[in-house]
Amino acid sequence: MHSVVKSMNSKIYDLNDINKYDEALRSAAEAVRNGGLVVFPTETVYGLGADATNDSAVKKIFQAKGRPSDNPLIVHFAKFDDCYEYVGEVSDAAKTIAEHFMPGPVTVIVKKGNALSPTVTAGLDTVAVRVPSDRFAHDFLKEAGCPVAAPSANISGKPSPTRAEYALEDMNGRADVILCGGDCLVGLESTVVDCTTEKVKILRPGAVTAEELMKVVTLDESSISESQTQRPRSPGMKYRHYKPDAYVIAVDGSDESIIKYLNDADFDEKCAVIMFDSILGHINAEVKLSLGDRNHPETAAHDLFAHFRYCDRAGITKIYVSCMPTDNIGDAYMNRLNKATDEYMMLGE
Ligand code: TXA
Ligand code: MG
Repeated sequence: MHSVVKSMNSKIYDLNDINKYDEALRSAAEAVRNGGLVVFPTETVYGLGADATNDSAVKKIFQAKGRPSDNPLIVHFAKFDDCYEYVGEVSDAAKTIAEHFMPGPVTVIVKKGNALSPTVTAGLDTVAVRVPSDRFAHDFLKEAGCPVAAPSANISGKPSPTRAEYALEDMNGRADVILCGGDCLVGLESTVVDCTTEKVKILRPGAVTAEELMKVVTLDESSISESQTQRPRSPGMKYRHYKPDAYVIAVDGSDESIIKYLNDADFDEKCAVIMFDSILGHINAEVKLSLGDRNHPETAAHDLFAHFRYCDRAGITKIYVSCMPTDNIGDAYMNRLNKATDEYMMLGE
């Protein structure tokens, strides 16, 4: 998986340096138009972008990430209207979702056209369209002037980068230009919604929630993710990405039961605990990472991947991490956590 050699000198820009802002955008846009790769921040996670109309450029993305070529990419636009030139039929549901939630952390699947690289869609007859709300992403896409195919900017299998330092860790030497823009606002990838069927289907939960989508379109309720209706008790045969190196134990229960469980657990210096503040204050562990206040689950969503990344860097071998209720953003949080989990600890009350 790590076999791709880091072979280029990446140009790295800090987008918060206003004196270099125009130069950074110009350099990134030029790189993309010339068939190169650009790392850029979005409100969800960092992306690794290439001109979606240039097949050899898009192929470089798969190479840089070590990504299986049967996994299609999301195409990013500065505004939704820009997509019509490149895609096929756009259903009313897709238009409605775009109207209500774009720019923002949602992706719609529509019919594909012929203008995009076939590698983007991995042989499917549909294509994923997203319009990020992050100002840096918007300005970069506008300057590029072409549709930009971009997966998350991590080596395949690793948690998506939500901070510039983690995008650099994976992509320095693999992308032509790296735009550093600070921490991503949401911290989990966009909600992916299939809009090609009569009732729309959620393929991946994210910050735009089932509850919100249901208010404006007809949702196929069976697509509301498994995690929302039923928490799997064993990780089973899941496709594993978002996985830190450590063995991950997902802990579910009341504060009291979790505190008791963790106080009885055998910690060594290679253990980390990722919990809400109401728990962290009552336990002794070398590495304690905060999910913030239980009543503000956005904080947990924002920091989960960053904590996983921190643990990888620190050589952590065992992680205890809190579950949360699967309403609203909790659905996306549990979806990602389930994919990283080796063992569940269901403590009840
Ligand atoms: O927030 C995000 O969506 C980030 C930022 C960079 O925009 N991107 C991202 O891309 O998460 P990636 O490649 O890591 O995930 C794209 C997801 C995959 O699960 C892929 O299978 C799905 O979207 N996807 C893409 N095109 C599709 C299609 N035509 N039909 C069904 N699923 C599709
Ligand atoms: Mg990804």
